[in-house]
Amino acid sequence: MECRRSLAKLCWLLLPLLLPLPPPYHQGRVLRQIPSTQVQKQDRGIQGLPAVHLSNGLGQEPVSIMTFNLTKITKTSSFFELRTWDPEGVIFYGDTNPRDDWFVLGLRDGRPEIQLYNPWAQLTVGAGPRLDNGRWHQIEVKAIGDSVLLAVDGEEVLYLRQVSGPLAKKPQPIMRIALGGLLFPASNLRLPLVPALDACLRRDHWLDRQAQLSVSAPASLRSCAIETQPGIFFPLGTRAEFNLQDIPQPHVEPWSFSLDLGLQMAGGSGYLLALGTPENPPWLSLHLQDQKVVLSYMSEPRLELPLVLGLPLQLKLAVTKVLLSQGPKKEIFALPPVGFSSFPNLWTHSQGRLFLGTLPGEVSSASFCLDGLWAQDQRLDMDRALSRSQDIWTHSCPQNPGNGTSTTH
Ligand SMILES: *[C@@H]1O[C@H](CO)[C@@H](O)[C@H](O)[C@H]1NC(C)=O
Ligand SMILES: *[C@@H]1O[C@H](CO)[C@@H](O)[C@H](O)[C@H]1NC(C)=O
Repeated sequence: MECRRSLAKLCWLLLPLLLPLPPPYHQGRVLRQIPSTQVQKQDRGIQGLPAVHLSNGLGQEPVSIMTFNLTKITKTSSFFELRTWDPEGVIFYGDTNPRDDWFVLGLRDGRPEIQLYNPWAQLTVGAGPRLDNGRWHQIEVKAIGDSVLLAVDGEEVLYLRQVSGPLAKKPQPIMRIALGGLLFPASNLRLPLVPALDACLRRDHWLDRQAQLSVSAPASLRSCAIETQPGIFFPLGTRAEFNLQDIPQPHVEPWSFSLDLGLQMAGGSGYLLALGTPENPPWLSLHLQDQKVVLSYMSEPRLELPLVLGLPLQLKLAVTKVLLSQGPKKEIFALPPVGFSSFPNLWTHSQGRLFLGTLPGEVSSASFCLDGLWAQDQRLDMDRALSRSQDIWTHSCPQNPGNGTSTTH
């Protein structure tokens, strides 16, 4: 059908301006291009591969980019299945021009969100059910005339009318589709979101394969073959770092601060977390050793608890003491008389950090899964860390502990 007719009429994302395509926005890694002849020979690329994980580095970069020749497009529908525990991130981005003709489908608070910007419409709209429940969901985005339709699990959840204009005749109109990331800085979004999405995508079909000019080989860091559960997984040697100014602040009078860790799985020896400043030994740390959780203060082991999985481990700091507890078990360490290294000073220090996982420069054999991490009873989001290893699973854990150690295909 729709070929020339829909092209003549309208289009989702299409822009009747003959602007040259800017270079793709990449930070660092160059995505390998598969020539279109090879694409046709294999008749698959990202389209038709088993399941692809959408995380690539810190989420600013897509895992794959496709280009389409708009003058050849006869099908204007894209559909796929998505599985995630992550409530926020970019599923895909499309444009003919990143300045004034782009489209984003993402998740916010677990629900689909469309952001769209072109000469006919600029809008941000959320719709549909929560999808961050670890089950596969079918999603379809279709351009019909001047409208865009979004369907989830076979139900139409959003019908946007008059959001696209007529397509003028263009000699070389090219549409780009990027999976799991944006082709412009996240700050260019109408409503900011953290693009990184810990999600798997399969059974995908993008527009019209006959019109596909190129597709980059998926640059996923993870396999989707492993069954997952919600959580945060730190594979061997990975770490994350939060600025203490960016997380919930201590209680002031009297000064106190709490961290809760839901350890679901843990193995090996090494740091779980530490408080301190970069390039100095931690002021306080928790590490795993011989099936125990050991608390050290100023590099001296002070307390320990047997490693118990499934019960939240709580660390409470005050000016004069540190309390480590898990279920009915409680251990208290009295801090030396207040000096420079009293904890409130760490919070006023511009370099004060909360470290998770391996410390910089330390060798660790630990890997662990948290069902959550809370500072002052508020959940911390790994996507908002100051920095983190690319391999951390931000919103999932392997169901089987043996499966998590290898993070590549
Ligand atoms: C797009 O398709 C048209 C019509 O087949 C063709 O003339 C044009 O060269 C193609 N553009 C690119 C960039 O391949
Ligand atoms: C996960 O680990 C289990 C046992 O360790 C193994 O039987 C299974 O094949 C693994 N699955 C994958 C996908 O690696």
